[in-house]
Amino acid sequence: MGELLIKPKKRKMKGIVLAGGTATRLFPMTATTSKQLLPVYDRQMIFYPLNTLIKAGIKDILMIVAPEHSGQFLNLLGSLLKKHGIHITFEVQSNPRGLAEALTLGENHIGDDNVALILGDNIFENDFAKQIKEFRSGGHVFAKKVVDPERFGVVKFNKANRAIEIVEKPTKWISDYAVTGLYLFDNNCVSIAKKIKPSERGEIEITDVNRAYLKKRQLEVTLFEGEWLDAGTPDSLLEASMIVKEKGISKNFHPILDQAIREFNEELKISSKKRLS
Ligand code: DAU
Repeated sequence: MGELLIKPKKRKMKGIVLAGGTATRLFPMTATTSKQLLPVYDRQMIFYPLNTLIKAGIKDILMIVAPEHSGQFLNLLGSLLKKHGIHITFEVQSNPRGLAEALTLGENHIGDDNVALILGDNIFENDFAKQIKEFRSGGHVFAKKVVDPERFGVVKFNKANRAIEIVEKPTKWISDYAVTGLYLFDNNCVSIAKKIKPSERGEIEITDVNRAYLKKRQLEVTLFEGEWLDAGTPDSLLEASMIVKEKGISKNFHPILDQAIREFNEELKISSKKRLS
């Protein structure tokens, strides 16, 4: 009798955008709105990570938002992409307990699928569509050489260029490679995240999820060269706008998102004309 071949189930890729947090480093700007709704050049910051997911063909996206800003996100994104077949849902994170909480808050959304988690304040020039579409199992993160590794999760490589250690905001230098805010995880990430205890700074760290995959030798780390902007301070926010303009990053959006933003602008114009007449 022939051997029974059990094909591994092909899972879909769901998306999660982390757009909560308090953004104290951007006070007073973030006293009235969320960091991810501040402008970066000609549009709100949130559109950039959203574009990364949409360029990879992801159709189901969960936005994690803070309670005080949920209405603003809903106004902007609630029906923006519906008619284009992209489904955006919202989950309120009552307190910013850490990035890995996105995976437990997103448990129902992830269901039996894999997930691409992206930070709402990370802007990438590269689109990573190929890696996201080809992802099957384990974890996959994207690292970039930086001058200030102490600000990030940092990955250390051995002589054979294999990732051997990941540390969140290391106080002692271990490497110059920051783990950026796009994380591809298989379905095991939910159970991994559920077991994570808060770190010394009191957060459920995404770095601990990465470490769990690394320990099982299931974490792929890809280095990249393109621009990566983490717009978390007044200086980096200003720099982000200038680089986005210079490199034409907002002019290179996925056509669906571009069209949706144009339609949204038209609707705004019509309703403001009505109000004036
Ligand atoms: O930008 C990449 C870095 O992002 C990684 O290298 C680090 O490993 C990772 O921990 C993270 O560090 P940050 O200190 O930059 O994370 P931050 O607290 O700024 O949060 C990132 C985004 O996630 C930001 O848009 C706010 C949002 N957030 C944050 C927390 C803690 C939430 O939505 N919920 C939260 O609980």
